[in-house]
Amino acid sequence: MFKKLFLKKSIEETLSHKPDRSLKRSIGPTGLTLLGLGSIVGAGIFIVTGVASAKFAGPAIIVSFIVSAIACSFTALCYAEFASMLPISGSVYTYTYVTMGEVWAWMIGWVLIFEYLISASAVAVGWSSYVVELLSSVGINLPHMITASIFAGGLINVPAVLIILTLTMILFIGARESTRVNGAIVLINMAIIVIFIIFGLKFINPANYHPFTPYGITGIFQGAAMVFFAYIGFDAVSTAAEETKDPQKNLPKGIIGSLLISSVLYIIVAAVLTGMVPYNLLDTAAPVTFALNYVGLETVASIVGVGAIFGITSVLLTSLFGQTRIFFSMSRDGLLPGLFSKVHPRFRSPVTSILLVGFVASFIAALVPLAAIIELVNIGTLSGFIFLAISIIILRRQNPDLERGFKCPFVPAVPILSIISCVFLITQLSLKTVEYFIISLIIGFSVYMVYGFRNSKIQSTTKSIETMKIESDNVLDTDVE
Ligand code: ALA
Repeated sequence: MFKKLFLKKSIEETLSHKPDRSLKRSIGPTGLTLLGLGSIVGAGIFIVTGVASAKFAGPAIIVSFIVSAIACSFTALCYAEFASMLPISGSVYTYTYVTMGEVWAWMIGWVLIFEYLISASAVAVGWSSYVVELLSSVGINLPHMITASIFAGGLINVPAVLIILTLTMILFIGARESTRVNGAIVLINMAIIVIFIIFGLKFINPANYHPFTPYGITGIFQGAAMVFFAYIGFDAVSTAAEETKDPQKNLPKGIIGSLLISSVLYIIVAAVLTGMVPYNLLDTAAPVTFALNYVGLETVASIVGVGAIFGITSVLLTSLFGQTRIFFSMSRDGLLPGLFSKVHPRFRSPVTSILLVGFVASFIAALVPLAAIIELVNIGTLSGFIFLAISIIILRRQNPDLERGFKCPFVPAVPILSIISCVFLITQLSLKTVEYFIISLIIGFSVYMVYGFRNSKIQSTTKSIETMKIESDNVLDTDVE
């Protein structure tokens, strides 16, 4: 029984799937990089930067962004190798299945719900607050009852629900259409960030950089653990593996390219932002527009505010996309009901997964406030990254000759550095977050024992092999008699 928990999927089997369970290959390298950027640049830079600077790092938030980028780049190299080797839907969940066995894979699938589903709900709440603020700046004041959850003094967050349902419909139509919408949104988003940088540069007051590290080195690292949220998403590129053209080449390009572009943008934005405004004023829901208003650029602030809404929308779209593909893979393996890997005959998208994700994400967004969720999203994602790095080391030993379109350099040094930096960032999060996370892991493990373990395809295959073995043993016995 204990051994069965660690059954591994074979790589050959993982790479071959039945036609009715596979998706349409339509995304190229540009689409992938845009998918990455769409998934990365959003609520993190537009919301978390301000709080992290005011409460943790001060102007040294610039350094926090660099620290976090370094941690992510080790992981991105590992992701790129895996994605080029196993270009199939499901990301680190699938990689863990072939390297460490089913129970770990399940736990990773469970943890990824934090990174995608819960993160999507949090981002939708952030989206809602930007929209409410924008509407009120043009004189339309929506009642608090319908724009905040019951825990935030309202009743239900209607804008958050509406945006998730709208994006669910777009995902339903299919990946190519989704990435097209995403591509357009991302380009607008990038343009808006560049506008912010160009206008903001002129208003940098060097005095705002003093003191540079008001909360010391500890503040810088805590800030890094917070703004890690802003980088989440480069790995979402790998969840589109089965819909990618020439995945061995294009997935690494998409993963590394999108992380690189966003890192550079973030570091510049952080430098401009903290140069424009004293850091202690940045504890606001919309720091970027706040800074522009602060220096008297109201029109630019409104334009950037609209752009931020676009940016946050694309993060939402790709988070929802990633979650549907992970459910799709888990269902294909029997760990979730088969309904979730059924592909719509016309749109070729995993329709039930999409509907479930849309429903659950909008439910959480309607009722849960934003704040502490961000830390939970971070801890879930960091744990996933740790498993990914371990898997790279294992697979290099298990299958050294497997074709790798991209090879992570300096293995095992880079994966080990990835593990160390992720563990370090986790230690910078609050104890409460770690406790909640452990409780969720216990719940996840129980669900696996009750459903996944009993219904898993790999377990039933093993069972039938064992049955065959017993039958053949019986035949032999009879022969001897
Ligand atoms: N990186 C994503 C964002 O910042 C989660 O919104």
